[in-house]
Amino acid sequence: MDGAYGMGVRLILLALLFTTTTWAHSWVEQLTVIAPNGSFIGAPGYPRGNVLRSNPAFSDTAMTYLAEDYLCKDTQRTQTQTEGSPRLQASAGAAIALRFQENGHVTLPETQPGKPKNRGTVYVYGTTSPKDDEKLADVHKVWNSDGSGGDKRGVLLAKRKYDDGRCYQVNGGTISQQRQSEYPHEADQYMGADIWCQSDIAIPSNAPSGNPYTIYWVWDWPTEAGVDPNLPNGKQEIYTTCMDVDVGAASVHQSRVAVAYDHDQSLNRASMPDQFAEIYNSDSGDFADDTVGGSSVPVSSNPVTTAPQPTGAPPMATVTVTSYVTSMVYVRPRPTSY
Ligand SMILES: *[C@@H]1O[C@H](CO)[C@@H](O)[C@H](O)[C@H]1NC(C)=O
Repeated sequence: MDGAYGMGVRLILLALLFTTTTWAHSWVEQLTVIAPNGSFIGAPGYPRGNVLRSNPAFSDTAMTYLAEDYLCKDTQRTQTQTEGSPRLQASAGAAIALRFQENGHVTLPETQPGKPKNRGTVYVYGTTSPKDDEKLADVHKVWNSDGSGGDKRGVLLAKRKYDDGRCYQVNGGTISQQRQSEYPHEADQYMGADIWCQSDIAIPSNAPSGNPYTIYWVWDWPTEAGVDPNLPNGKQEIYTTCMDVDVGAASVHQSRVAVAYDHDQSLNRASMPDQFAEIYNSDSGDFADDTVGGSSVPVSSNPVTTAPQPTGAPPMATVTVTSYVTSMVYVRPRPTSY
């Protein structure tokens, strides 16, 4: 490269690097089991190759991954944990929360023109047969909820709005201000004064115990064509986190626990009521194959009304939870070929 040209290219590269690193994008910070009352229980787990924020080597780029060919970031392609960031331990069928920071994408939406209103969609996929070289195109929008999609190695566990309707980073923006007054909580060791966003899902009840179950969190956040003058054709923008959960058998003493969301709990440990309801309500959600199996009996039927939403947020439905519990965990029948 000749001097002036080379310098120009280097400056552009530097500018690009700066632009991408100044945007703190999102990844799954923690996985937590959700108890039948909707509260987080037990120790959190972490994604593959996790770099904790307290680690001196931490930077956003250590954890964010703009997926194109490979589904997982290079540090997350094998089932490897880092020291201090163990896997989540959960029973087959357990509900779990995948929590992430919105980093302004929810509370300061005006900073990115042409982005979807719900700040994009999170697709959560699960498999017992992950590949180290997993390709985005083999999984995303290919695997489906009944496990019949693509190569049939996995399933779509849930599709969630990136903005769960409650999460916020503390800042001066209107959305953040509204949510701070609507959803107050004591600052905690993980979230500080913020409230992290959630994608709540359930591990399939037929996930074999004694094995890791793999979860791919895929945040699909495209830019619409013709809105941003710099992006006349729009663009695909997909961030992922790859993680595993150690699946154990449900313990006997946990059997026959009523599923009933406790609306009176601290937001520091509370799952999202609407997502929790979808997981446990056999009559709602994406999964047409939900049925109640065996000798299950209804153990609770309580209306779950989500908290009032801030102005401007999409209204949430009022749903009724009718739960059928045969064991600690709600048994959601799944195809055996997932
Ligand atoms: C929810 O259930 C868990 C597990 O049984 C229990 O430890 C916790 O105290 C309960 N939380 C509330 C707010 O009732």
